[in-house]
Amino acid sequence: MAPVKTPAPKPVVSDLQSESDLRAVLAALVRGCRSMTAEERRQLPAPPPKIHGPFLAELRRQIRTGGDPLGEAYARIFPAGKRRATGTTFTPPHVVGQMFALADRLVEHPALIVDCGSGSGRFSLAALRKFPAARVVACELNPLLALVCRANALAAGLESRFEVKRGDFRDLRLPRRTGPTLFIGNPPYVRHHDIEPHWKQWYRDELARHDIAGSQLAGLHLHFFLKARQLAQPGDAGCFITSAEWLDVNYGRDLRKLLLNGLGGHTVHLFPANQQLFADALTTSAITTFRVGQVHHGMGFTEAGDQQRPLTNWVPTEELRRAQAWSAFARPLRPVAVEATTTLGDFFTVHRGQVTGANPIWIAGENTPPLPAYCLLPTVTHAKEIIRLAGAPLRDLTALRRVVSLPEDWSGLPAQDRRLIESFIGWAEAEGGKSSFIARHRRPWWRVKLKAPPPIIMTYMGRRPPVFARNLAGARLLNIAHGLYPRIPTDDALLDALVGWLNRHVLPSAGRTYAGGLVKFEPGEAMRIPVPTLEHFAHVA
Ligand SMILES: C[S@@+](CC[C@H](N)C(=O)[O-])C[C@H]1O[C@@H](n2cnc3c(N)ncnc32)[C@H](O)[C@@H]1O
Repeated sequence: MAPVKTPAPKPVVSDLQSESDLRAVLAALVRGCRSMTAEERRQLPAPPPKIHGPFLAELRRQIRTGGDPLGEAYARIFPAGKRRATGTTFTPPHVVGQMFALADRLVEHPALIVDCGSGSGRFSLAALRKFPAARVVACELNPLLALVCRANALAAGLESRFEVKRGDFRDLRLPRRTGPTLFIGNPPYVRHHDIEPHWKQWYRDELARHDIAGSQLAGLHLHFFLKARQLAQPGDAGCFITSAEWLDVNYGRDLRKLLLNGLGGHTVHLFPANQQLFADALTTSAITTFRVGQVHHGMGFTEAGDQQRPLTNWVPTEELRRAQAWSAFARPLRPVAVEATTTLGDFFTVHRGQVTGANPIWIAGENTPPLPAYCLLPTVTHAKEIIRLAGAPLRDLTALRRVVSLPEDWSGLPAQDRRLIESFIGWAEAEGGKSSFIARHRRPWWRVKLKAPPPIIMTYMGRRPPVFARNLAGARLLNIAHGLYPRIPTDDALLDALVGWLNRHVLPSAGRTYAGGLVKFEPGEAMRIPVPTLEHFAHVA
């Protein structure tokens, strides 16, 4: 029998046990990189030590496949006690992923992503991979970690769109930008005792610009929110994970006010108190998202990390202003006794949105021939337009697409309008609009009859419970969502309370589950959703 060849033992990254090991490996990884600064070069041993080739290859492989062996080595070499003074702890990859998923709802194609307090660069690398056209700036105070960040980007082959700014985030300047910026990260938790007086003064002065009297007791993570506000332009967005205490404590009032005043607070996702995300920092965590320059009229609150629980409790701005503490908004409601006999269908009929038969023809785009404005109705054409609201009402039609809705008879219209409508119909026919199954069964074939705007809209398909929203803007609906039409007299307070309740209580199990976990709520299933009696909502409202 041929002798079995034992493979050479794989190099193990846990071999990196000391700061000088780490610096030696960094030197090998960044060797030849032209964009390094003189400060970075000073960090490295000279002459650069020889590192075993297979060891470097294994490191690069791990980094390319999404690992962070250098960050892990750093955390091993500098134990939690040594990292505490600078608030250094690294974010687990699944949380980084969750935060980018939340950021997707805020800004679709950021031109720039700023990793605020980047550590080893977990957010930076995730951003470089996720947005191949964007630039990424990592800002990190600690010179060794800034170098780790650069080495990671080089090893991953992503350095051409990446810049490390070594320094204090509060001093950061950004280049002139043409598209939206996303600020993301895990700002350092450093208590006010360790913040220098000149930064406390900076914090007070900057907050005063927003008519907020800053507290001396604010921690460094609040300084990071404020700096993001200072750097941000309208349309920019942010997503930070921090300790959750600011939601309730006195100094947190600064941030609570800032979110309602200029920073554009959008959602807060509070993790359950017993869910410790960071092995070396015992704290309850919250992810906060914001969208600068938008009037939100309120913020969404969720209990994070529980896939079963529907998304959001939407809390109006006025209520947030009045509240002394915010964390209760994110905690699940006490179970409500639902009378089995009362269902959503007792109070509402649920209708599917309109089918067009050929969306490229009936949803106006750049090739659509001109039409009178009254033929183009603002319409929800994608479920994400509801999901993105995170439970808040739809108030604004500007971001929605227009669906062509022609009058049945245009003989009495001005000649100019008649010509436009007729030439549109000619175009639609040439594009094949007359031959779709739906058009062949529609009389006349060109008439997409959009239903009246429903006061409540809901998504009905996904790997999660449906999202409900009030439709204050009067948008129409395509068949990517359902509309709820009241059978009984309702008012704003009742509809608000009902939507809040539905977003917090409807479980996927009420719908129809398909293979792969897809859950669908056909109109019939939606109408069978059990709800409390209306007296309950009258009481809540
Ligand atoms: C909580 S850690 C997060 C690290 C990394 N973003 C992650 O989530 O894995 C905070 C980072 O901010 C850095 N830091 C602390 N004070 C800073 C400051 N004033 N400006 C920039 N970075 C700072 C720390 O060195 C640390 O790397």
